Amino acid sequence: MSPAGDRVGLEVAIAKKAYLGASGESRAALRDVAFALKRGEVCALLGPSGSGKTTLLRIVAGLDRDFEGGVWLPSPHRLGMVFQEPRLLPWRTVAENLRLAGASEPKSLAEIAAVLGLALHLDHFPGELSLGLARRVAIARAFAVKPDLLLLDEPFVSLDAALALRLRGELQALVETHKATTLIVTHDVEEAISLADRIIVLAGAPGSLIADLAIETPRLAMTSRQAAAIKAELAALAAPRADR
Ligand SMILES: Nc1ncnc2c1ncn2[C@@H]1O[C@H](COP(=O)(O)OP(=O)(O)O)[C@@H](O)[C@H]1O
Ligand SMILES: [Mg+2]
Repeated sequence: MSPAGDRVGLEVAIAKKAYLGASGESRAALRDVAFALKRGEVCALLGPSGSGKTTLLRIVAGLDRDFEGGVWLPSPHRLGMVFQEPRLLPWRTVAENLRLAGASEPKSLAEIAAVLGLALHLDHFPGELSLGLARRVAIARAFAVKPDLLLLDEPFVSLDAALALRLRGELQALVETHKATTLIVTHDVEEAISLADRIIVLAGAPGSLIADLAIETPRLAMTSRQAAAIKAELAALAAPRADR
C-alpha cells in the first residue's frame, strides 16, 4: 500500500542506483529521482541514451532491488511490461506466449492477435519472426495481462508509422478502459504529447530528473503549439550540458 493513499498508482523515490563497473568500481546510474503518478495517469519518460531510463523501469518493475530508496505500488497489482528487446519465450509459440501472459480465453487471444496483426503468426515460434513482429507479440503480451501498471521501454521503435499509430490508439484505449498507470519511455516528443498526461525528463550521468511537465488538455488542439514549446524547453535544458 502506498504511503500516500490508494489513489496513487506509483510512487518512486530513488536516492541512488549504482552499478559495479568492469574493474569493480561503483558507477552511479541514477541519483535523486522522485515522482508520483496517480492511478491511471500516463507518464512519458524522455532522456538521452544512458540517462537511466531502462534502469528506472527495471527498478519500478521490481526486477532490480539493489538501489537506495523505495518504490511504492498499490497491492495487489498486475504488471504489464514491454522491454527494449522483445524477450519472448523461444520454446513457446506466439499463441502460447500470449496465453501464458493471461490471454487464456480463445476470444481474448483472438482479439489481441487481430488488433496487433498477429492472427497468421499464432503458431510460429519467436525465432521465426522478424524483429517488428516479435515487438508486436511483446506488446500483445503486455496488453494480455490486463495490467494496472504498464511499463513500456521504447515500444514502438522500428515499427512502421501506420502500425505505430494504430498501437498508440490501442494503448490509449487500454489505458482508458483499465485505468492502467503507465510509464512509457520514448524518444519522440510528439508521441509523448499524444499519449501522456505528463512528461518527465532524465538527463546527465548519473541520470537525474530535470523536468516534470503537465500536458495540457484538450490534447489535440494543443499538440503542435505545445510540441514546439516542449521541444524548446528540452533544447534549453540540454544546452548548458553541451559545453561541459
Ligand atoms: N547491467 C549494467 N551494468 C553496468 N552498468 C549498466 C548496466 N545497465 C546499465 N548500465 C549503465 O547505467 C547507465 C544507464 O543505463 P540505461 O538505464 O540503460 O540508460 P537508458 O535506458 O536511458 O539508455 C549507463 O551508463 C549504462 O552504461
Ligand atoms: Mg534504455
